[in-house]
Amino acid sequence: MAVSAVCPGSFDPITLGHLDVIERAARRFDHVVTAVVDNPNKQSMFALDERVAMVRDEVSRFANVEVVAFEGLLVDFCRERDIGVICKGLRGVADFEYELQMAQMNLRVGDIETMFISTNPTLSYLSSSLIKEVARMGGSVHGMLPDGAEQALLERSRA
Ligand code: PNS
Repeated sequence: MAVSAVCPGSFDPITLGHLDVIERAARRFDHVVTAVVDNPNKQSMFALDERVAMVRDEVSRFANVEVVAFEGLLVDFCRERDIGVICKGLRGVADFEYELQMAQMNLRVGDIETMFISTNPTLSYLSSSLIKEVARMGGSVHGMLPDGAEQALLERSRA
């Protein structure tokens, strides 16, 4: 039986840490859906369609990964698409508490299991928000995100 997983996130913008988790999930699951979330509680730098396009550019080389935009409850999305596993990257203890809480909530509300991939230690300091902060203040973010996303971020930060 084919097992599908979802890698959800805001991807505002996608970082090399995200990409590493998606790539490693794609090696372990038959099919991976990268769900780019439209979160009304978060002010994003990039519009949803821009984030989807950036993620799609980077994952198109993986045959078993698709990218979709979604809003609403993740567990509903999983049920509609027959996805049994939520797959998330865990960078460290700062992620752990919130991720555990979300995993338990998703189990309770939707009976969906969450599996964690420990992030590559060389990338575990990366976060979209810190990268945006550094870029906005003129620091170098080279090597922290894919080239296309870096270019888009630099242009947006200058605007
Ligand atoms: O990249 P982010 O912003 O840290 O990702 C958070 C995300 C998108 C995984 C989380 O906010 C989410 O699952 N949102 C969908 C709405 C939902 O299901 N909320 C209940 C979570 S228990």
